Amino acid sequence: MMLRRARRIMMYSSWTGVELAPADPIIGLTQAFKDDPAATKVLLGVGAYRDGDGKPVVLPSVKKAEERVVASLQDHEYAAISGLADFCRLSVAFALGADSKPVVENRVACVQTLSGTGACRVGLAMLERLPAVGGGGKPIVYVPSPTWGNHPNIAKDAGLEVRRYRYLDDKTKTSLDFEGLMEDLEHTVEPGSAILLHACAHNPTGVDPSREQWARISRALAQKDVQVFFDCAYQGFASGDPENDAWAIRKFVEDGHNILLAQSYAKNFGLYGERVGALSAVCEDPQQAKALESQLKRIIRPMYSNPPVHGARVVATVLADPNLKARWADECKQMADRIQGMRLALKSSLEDLGSTKDWSHITAQIGMFAFTGLTQDQVLTLRQRFHIYCTLDGRISVAGLTSANVHYVAQAIHEITNSPAESS
Ligand SMILES: Cc1ncc(COP(=O)(O)O)c(C=O)c1O
Repeated sequence: MMLRRARRIMMYSSWTGVELAPADPIIGLTQAFKDDPAATKVLLGVGAYRDGDGKPVVLPSVKKAEERVVASLQDHEYAAISGLADFCRLSVAFALGADSKPVVENRVACVQTLSGTGACRVGLAMLERLPAVGGGGKPIVYVPSPTWGNHPNIAKDAGLEVRRYRYLDDKTKTSLDFEGLMEDLEHTVEPGSAILLHACAHNPTGVDPSREQWARISRALAQKDVQVFFDCAYQGFASGDPENDAWAIRKFVEDGHNILLAQSYAKNFGLYGERVGALSAVCEDPQQAKALESQLKRIIRPMYSNPPVHGARVVATVLADPNLKARWADECKQMADRIQGMRLALKSSLEDLGSTKDWSHITAQIGMFAFTGLTQDQVLTLRQRFHIYCTLDGRISVAGLTSANVHYVAQAIHEITNSPAESS
């Protein structure tokens, strides 16, 4: 039988020359961890909560709400472009407080978004097209140095120029450079730009301004024509108290800032994969809020048309029921407390091992992450010799620590920070 080889006709391909994009640093880290056969391996990369056994958690209050949602489910119709109205209303009250002036005066525009990332994307796209931001040139957004690795990507993809303001102290690597931050906000930031602030539990550093420092930041920014954009990804999860974690946002609103606010329900409700978030804008009056919302919808419609409904129904069910909300707050506090316990355990294990370094920042920092101050080389040694995976900037997800692995992690950190070269 004659073998006939099918001739491939060479068609035009747009894909010619497309190069392999670098893996996302955090998702890539998880893959490297999965591929590592070592029994002692520990993943301290991704910012997702784990229980004392290292397992993902579904909060009982969220489960209860989900059961109610499923039981009452009547159809799978599209949500509005702006999402579920009840969810938006409850979400704004959750962050700003039900009795805050803009809420009472009905002058907050809000749209449901694809979690916190989606809220940042829609918010920054909105800033990109505002006449007031940028003053005719390319609009600028200032982000803290360092910031969550995705912020610059989101801002650039939304068409903004990204600049940095000082945040982490370059010398200590573990505390706030408040003087540098104020100098940048007061003197370097250009009028007509936007400033992105982490509302609580700054990612990746876990270093937040004190209340007094927040008040000074608010006063300084009130003197400038800038748009304040709060990213709030950890309300309730940071300190265990959602009211406390919303303090900076509420202070700015009280001081008269018409803030833009991105909210995520990934961490505090454990709804990572459901993509529940909100973007809201405090406005001068209800008419302005209406106009703003209409423009936000104009951005959303061609982007993804409308958001998914399930997770937003779950969150709205919790927030609307005072008993369920109290249960959720309690469970959220338990997550925050376990993280705080692991911070203490790591610090005391390091001290028990005889480390003479100052590890007080581990317990002073807040939220899911600890910024250890480890150098890139030390992080790589941690990975290669000890099979402990964290990001190259020395950030560890404290949620990945358990009573079973914390001593091993402390031993490894002690060993690599205690070498003569390190202590010299
Ligand atoms: C500061 C900050 N903003 C936004 C997000 C967005 O998270 P998600 O899109 O999962 O809600 C994160 C997640 O790590 C974050 O740390």
